[in-house]
Amino acid sequence: MPKLEAIPTMDSQSETEQTKFETETYKDAYSRINAIVIEGEQEAYENYIKLAEMLSDQKDELIKLSKMENRHKKGFQACGNNLKVTPDMEFAKKFFEPLHQNFQTAASTGNVVTCLLIQSLIIECFAIAAYNIYIPVADPFARKITEGVVKDEYSHLNFGEVWLKEHFEDSKAELQQANRQNLPLVWKMLNQVEKDAKTLEMEKEALVEDFMIAYGEALNNIGFTTGEIMRMSAYGLVAA
Ligand SMILES: [Fe+2]
Ligand SMILES: [Fe+2]
Repeated sequence: MPKLEAIPTMDSQSETEQTKFETETYKDAYSRINAIVIEGEQEAYENYIKLAEMLSDQKDELIKLSKMENRHKKGFQACGNNLKVTPDMEFAKKFFEPLHQNFQTAASTGNVVTCLLIQSLIIECFAIAAYNIYIPVADPFARKITEGVVKDEYSHLNFGEVWLKEHFEDSKAELQQANRQNLPLVWKMLNQVEKDAKTLEMEKEALVEDFMIAYGEALNNIGFTTGEIMRMSAYGLVAA
């Protein structure tokens, strides 16, 4: 016999919305996604301090950016607290390890262009894509925080674009090499979080699309041609 189901009223719908964030399934996925975001902001904080040492003429600006990243980290820690979730920081550290290692190696050999590609292009575009996809499905507390954060990330991406555009001819070969080395890591990272992201109603396809749009636009602003951008983007697929 067909079962009759009550049509949810506006009230009961918002009630369902509220409890969705309290389910164990949601909280379990959130413990990893939230940790990745916190670790990502921590990485960004440390990376901008490192970049401030490498680009001493831009030191003040880069220290300012690092402080913004630290504030972002605290904001996302508050989001986890708000949902009573303990972030799985061990998982997040492992998640960022390959990108972290590549940044450290580049910094230790003075390859500032590679450092900028990893932090100001890849990590910022990754954050912009993830935050934009997250905002419409986030709980109200996290939505407010994330909306504020994503505005900052655009300004950080802009910093990298401006510097790399000004030094385009000298940076071009290193950027292409760094892209080849690091873009496949982004794909691996997206594959690793696909399932948890889906639990939070964030689709991998949408994340990939937003990332590639932001990243492609950045490469275009820096001075790459459409053909070069297509070739550079294709390196991501090597890992897919
Ligand atoms: Fe940030
Ligand atoms: Fe940032």
